[in-house]
Amino acid sequence: MTRKKIRNLLRTESRPDQAVLAALFWLLCMGTSGARPHGAAVSGDANTKSDDGNCLRGMCGRSMVAGEGDSKMGVQIGASPDSGFDDPLGMLKDCHRRIEHFLHVICLVAERALGRSLTGEETSAVQSALRYFREGGIRHTADEEESLFPRLREDPDAGNLEELGALESDHHEANELHSFVDEIYSKWITAGRMAPQDEAQLVAATRRLKSLYEAHIQVEEKFVFPRASARLSQEIIQTIGREFRRRRT
Ligand SMILES: [Fe+2]
Ligand SMILES: [Fe+2]
Repeated sequence: MTRKKIRNLLRTESRPDQAVLAALFWLLCMGTSGARPHGAAVSGDANTKSDDGNCLRGMCGRSMVAGEGDSKMGVQIGASPDSGFDDPLGMLKDCHRRIEHFLHVICLVAERALGRSLTGEETSAVQSALRYFREGGIRHTADEEESLFPRLREDPDAGNLEELGALESDHHEANELHSFVDEIYSKWITAGRMAPQDEAQLVAATRRLKSLYEAHIQVEEKFVFPRASARLSQEIIQTIGREFRRRRT
């Protein structure tokens, strides 16, 4: 998909929706209750930061990045430890929780900071999220497209080729949208302000990413991963885990 096509698509998707209103409502509630939304489970680092005022609650995710694929650093307060390389399907699900968390950050800031400069706290949270999608997000796609999906395709009873092809199309569209969001946010951070047309397109792009990931993650966790768990041998699962390790060293 070309940048022009993305811009045209985004022009048609810039009206406020229920999800945005819910996110803003959630933010207001967070100021008094200290509750944390689903998908924002973070480690002690982030919790400490939220107490000293340097990080918006649930928005600082540095520890979530550090914890990926490393069981020693994956211990989280109030959450299960991250899965290790012996459980690559568990690692993929852990990664989905990180995707949801960082997606929440880029959606929330795009909605609430329109018409002004980002605060230091917002800039830091957004930069962590952008870095995650540039590194961890790309690696997650490689884990699926280069390690998991080919194994499912090799087993005629385990793979649904149409479904896997649709998931790969989603990855492609998400990559295009992420590079667009990265470009606009980087301009915003550098220049201090955004042009009105960029504001509308950033909001539309983050909303599109949110809806894309919601459906995509549901298909993977409800159908693809359970099928892989049922059909792939332990030997293949362990091979996939070794490939995941190699991508991280
Ligand atoms: Fe995927
Ligand atoms: Fe995934």
